[in-house]
Amino acid sequence: MERLPEPELMDDPLQAQAYAAADFSASDQALVERIATRFGPVPGGDGLGLGERIVDLGCGPGNISFRLAERFSSAAVLGLDGSAAMLGFATDRLAAEPQRWPRLRFQQALLPLGDPAAWPVPFSAVVSNSLLHHLHEPQVLWQAVGLLAAEGAAVHIHDLRRPSGEAALQALVARHAAGAPAVLRRDYANSLHAAFSRQEVEDQLARAGLRGLSVRDRDDRYLEISGRLKRQGA
Ligand SMILES: C[S@@+](CC[C@H](N)C(=O)[O-])C[C@H]1O[C@@H](n2cnc3c(N)ncnc32)[C@H](O)[C@@H]1O
Repeated sequence: MERLPEPELMDDPLQAQAYAAADFSASDQALVERIATRFGPVPGGDGLGLGERIVDLGCGPGNISFRLAERFSSAAVLGLDGSAAMLGFATDRLAAEPQRWPRLRFQQALLPLGDPAAWPVPFSAVVSNSLLHHLHEPQVLWQAVGLLAAEGAAVHIHDLRRPSGEAALQALVARHAAGAPAVLRRDYANSLHAAFSRQEVEDQLARAGLRGLSVRDRDDRYLEISGRLKRQGA
């Protein structure tokens, strides 16, 4: 099935509000626990941890950033997003209880990131949830990972996977969004249309010269790109 990109930034205030109000808590917490397992001292994990500086790319209202800041409370967490409307929800929530997340910050930044000199200190972990399928040019995500991550950084990117065809796509919408309002069912179908396949992401990583990351299918609709970053030639 051909990829059909959807609008990139979520900067319409009503769209941002609807997203911020939606309850993704179960899947968000499951993602943070998955990250802890992949990089933690447990069977199957690499035991090296996430380190001191975590960046969350395309953080939106901060759903994952807040959970990372809570779960890895000794690390500094920075959420980046290009949408002022989305970040407004994140900064309002942080301002309401600043003592609860003392090492969490948010910053507006649009991918592709510009001047590398603006990012002098590398991050020990790069996380992103549900950003990749928004990007018209996916290399801007891999460029940001290459720019921001330290060699050996923990990288964990989670996103939808494009189904093989229209029937499979409609089956996913029926399975996971049956009770949702029509507008949300349509948005979900659009996001599945805009997502990438595993092979496409593997090709993107090779083109970006990023190694050490494995691309896996997760459940019936997700892709997970995860590992310790090595750059070409390193
Ligand atoms: C579906 S939301 C995901 C938000 C958050 N990661 C989460 O898990 O809830 C995608 C976010 O990516 C942001 N985004 C899309 N394209 C971007 C770009 N080129 N640069 C920065 N942020 C971008 C959107 O503004 C939006 O907030």
